[in-house]
Amino acid sequence: MKSEKNNPLEEGLRIRKIADKNTLVIFGATGDLTKRKLMPALFSLFKQGFIPKEFDIIAFARSENTDDSFRKVVEKAIASEETSSDSIEPFLKRISYFRGAYSETDDFKRLKKRLEEIDNNVLFYLATPPSAFDNIIHNLGAVDMAFLQDHWTRVIIEKPFGRDLDSARMLNETIQKVFNEDQIYRIDHYLGKETVQNLLVFRFANTIFEPIWNRRYIDHIQITVSEKIGIEGRGGFFEETGILRDIVQNHMMQLLCLVAMEPPSTTEPNAVRDEKVKVLHAVRSLGPDIDENVKRGQYGEGSIDGNNVKGYRDEENVSPQSKTETYVALRLMIENWRWAGVPFYLRCGKRLPKKVTEIAIYFKKPPLLMFGHNVEKEAMANVLTVTIQPDEGISLSFDSKIPGYRTRIRPVTMEFRYGTSFGQVPPDAYERLLLDAMIGDPTLFTRADENEQAWKIIDPILTKWQEGSDIPVHSYRAGSWGPKKVDDWIEKQGRLWRRL
Ligand code: NDP
Ligand code: BG6
Repeated sequence: MKSEKNNPLEEGLRIRKIADKNTLVIFGATGDLTKRKLMPALFSLFKQGFIPKEFDIIAFARSENTDDSFRKVVEKAIASEETSSDSIEPFLKRISYFRGAYSETDDFKRLKKRLEEIDNNVLFYLATPPSAFDNIIHNLGAVDMAFLQDHWTRVIIEKPFGRDLDSARMLNETIQKVFNEDQIYRIDHYLGKETVQNLLVFRFANTIFEPIWNRRYIDHIQITVSEKIGIEGRGGFFEETGILRDIVQNHMMQLLCLVAMEPPSTTEPNAVRDEKVKVLHAVRSLGPDIDENVKRGQYGEGSIDGNNVKGYRDEENVSPQSKTETYVALRLMIENWRWAGVPFYLRCGKRLPKKVTEIAIYFKKPPLLMFGHNVEKEAMANVLTVTIQPDEGISLSFDSKIPGYRTRIRPVTMEFRYGTSFGQVPPDAYERLLLDAMIGDPTLFTRADENEQAWKIIDPILTKWQEGSDIPVHSYRAGSWGPKKVDDWIEKQGRLWRRL
């Protein structure tokens, strides 16, 4: 196997920063996120040497546990065929369990005492359901833990950040009463994905794409987040949330911003975030025309990979009359000089045939085709596709002559794949985000105004859906590409969804 040392393609990957020394306090550490995402990401950083010697984890939660019993749970979560128990042990030793209640100020006093003994920088991670956020923040303030004499303190907050504009504002107020904005790290794990970050590099470190990245050359843009999974036992959560809040308000809005933003003047965190916020401000508000621009759907029973699966209304903790959307498609317009007149189609859904997240830029067709009528029919628009996951990469399709005596054309593609070019799988999003928070780089976290502005786009849709019981929730078969009515809708606008 090639080592990193002699692979020139991996040169850039060796330049790395190590986290500042710190103690990470995870609230809600007995939960699914900690097990499935945080601990594996922390262990991976630890193995790669990104974590300093003075680092430890305090796992705070209400459940009964000892250090040992909790470490066993973590061990199970991070064990894999490539990891020996010898390599896991030093990591586990850094973890201690702290039993406490999120609403009990006395428990936070005990926590403070423990942290004073450790005498380190502190990173708080709110990994509980959002209903506990207020109590935790309030108590951190009440016992004076937000600012330490000789060390930094930061707080990472999980999504969902609010469930509408008002609640997001209230949550921002609550947090900002206790912490300064530069201590607050609102997580959207899509920003930690390598391919999402590469959007900026792709657009602004190359000269050939930016001149055509505008309304003169681009017909429309499609952003797709398609998932095979259903709601994975999270019926209660999903009934309250729906896919518009769960995925569009955060992950898809971030993708929209990165595709549409102007070049920032520097890569300094606020310069990047300022440009993203400008995009959100420029999105045309949806008013009485919501029905024309937003379609929702819900999966019925069907089959995924040959297995029969339940319809949404038959899932546990879901009402048999539920109108909660598991699919949504939107047409958004960005009203600025770069994008006037270019529709951005966003679609996402649960129980679709494939897991794929991608951005497809559809360029305009040539003004004139001189190869005859048949060829005109065969000619396709150029499409630049950024695949966020899986099989991360970028491809450009263009028309080419099919070899032979006649002129016939067919689209072909030029491809870049991360796996092939860099010989390694990109790191998990949580690794990057945890490391950035420990280093103190908030670029890949969302700012208060960014989050609120995204809610301003979503809120009118939620209100309309709440008010209008006659607005259809189109049903689709699990394992299909969504409601037929939504295909008809985009076709009427002279476009087709990309086949994935
Ligand atoms: P869980 O539902 O597993 O909750 C985490 C822990 O919080 C539980 O183990 C429990 O610990 C405590 N808890 C549960 N319910 C409550 C409650 N009503 N009030 C107070 N404490 C409670 O959540 P996840 O780990 O799945 O997610 C944590 C956060 O991360 C959430 O905000 C979620 O939206 C977000 N998130 C999760 C993802 C995932 O993949 N799981 C993905 C993206 C975001 P104890 O009882 O021991 O105190
Ligand atoms: C989470 C949503 O934020 O993102 C889930 O709550 C969704 O419903 C998940 O499945 C998708 O993330 P990824 O990284 O698998 O695309």
